[in-house]
Amino acid sequence: MDIKPFAVEEWMNAYETGARYNIAETCVDSVSVDELFELSDEDKEAFLSEFCARRLTYGDIEGSDELRSGIASLYRSARPEEIVTTHGAAGANHHVFCSLVSSGDHVVSIMPTYQQLYSIPMSIGAKVDIMHLRQENGYLPDLRELEGLVTDDTRLICINNPNNPTGALMSKELLSEIIRIARDADAYILSDEVYRHLTQEDSWCESVADLYEKGISVGSMSKVFSLAGIRMGWIFTHDEKARRAFMSHRDYDLISCGMFDDAIASIALRHKEALLERNRGIVRRNLAILDKWIGENGHFRYTRPQAGTTALIYYDFDIPSYDFCRRLYDETGSFVTPGDCFEEPGSFRIGYGSDTETLKEGLRAITSLAERL
Ligand SMILES: Cc1ncc(COP(=O)(O)O)c(C=O)c1O
Repeated sequence: MDIKPFAVEEWMNAYETGARYNIAETCVDSVSVDELFELSDEDKEAFLSEFCARRLTYGDIEGSDELRSGIASLYRSARPEEIVTTHGAAGANHHVFCSLVSSGDHVVSIMPTYQQLYSIPMSIGAKVDIMHLRQENGYLPDLRELEGLVTDDTRLICINNPNNPTGALMSKELLSEIIRIARDADAYILSDEVYRHLTQEDSWCESVADLYEKGISVGSMSKVFSLAGIRMGWIFTHDEKARRAFMSHRDYDLISCGMFDDAIASIALRHKEALLERNRGIVRRNLAILDKWIGENGHFRYTRPQAGTTALIYYDFDIPSYDFCRRLYDETGSFVTPGDCFEEPGSFRIGYGSDTETLKEGLRAITSLAERL
């Protein structure tokens, strides 16, 4: 099966580990197992001695009751049995496409976004129409454009809310309009919601799966809960037919998610409020720093993100984005992602969920490069 190289992941793979100031990372500052136990106030020694005595079987094939209840608690209307656990959100997105989309199906997807959302259906042989998110619309979908793209043959509409790389957040009203269009066509909506709940305001972040009977939400422990190392993700939908397809495919490509990952994710979700408070604090504090930096550096402009951990920043230098980011990395050790990975030339994506010192140093390095350009 041919598939286009995954531009952003190739870039991250090549440079991430050598970066001095990694402000390309999209997870909120990751935690260790020790930090998780400190945050949760649980007894680590008791957990370890109980866990270490367990035989390492496949564990709960569909995910433990506690895990699926914890995930369900992140939604308004989810029941634990409606949660399908996967290997990260990357596994979840892949799983949705492989379970629901066949060659020749019509899919509408947005751009810019995480490349899985258009390159996987293309690789399956689906006919994929792209809906461009434009800065002048705050990177929100243009409903007229969407109406023009969706037909009675559309199988799936893909969105990413909050959006990576722009940090745009769709309101309930906008989601309801997208749902109206999908419902008229009897199409599924896949919403990659891996940054959901990382808001700048204290407001509930809606999920498409709570609002639409054929809505499919993808989430994971990586970004919002700072636990990318456990590779735990999920799919939630009320649609039973889709869920049956997910479970059938799951037997072929995953079996179970691993006992350790299940146990750690369960602890994190039991203490989700403590983790969310930590992580919302980081993204709010850090976005204020980024916003101030933008205000003070006339060569850069952006649309302020409303949620998530990423922002797309445009510069006014005559240099391609890959060259800009390579020079930044080589000359300063500061690491950001070229906008061309998202088909947004003349820009770079910054991840502002890192520890605050790294963000400040990384931004200082960009200022110093800008002075030389
Ligand atoms: C929008 C989006 N979806 C999915 C993923 C994959 O996340 P996970 O670590 O849960 O596989 C990412 C990671 O960057 C992402 O930004």
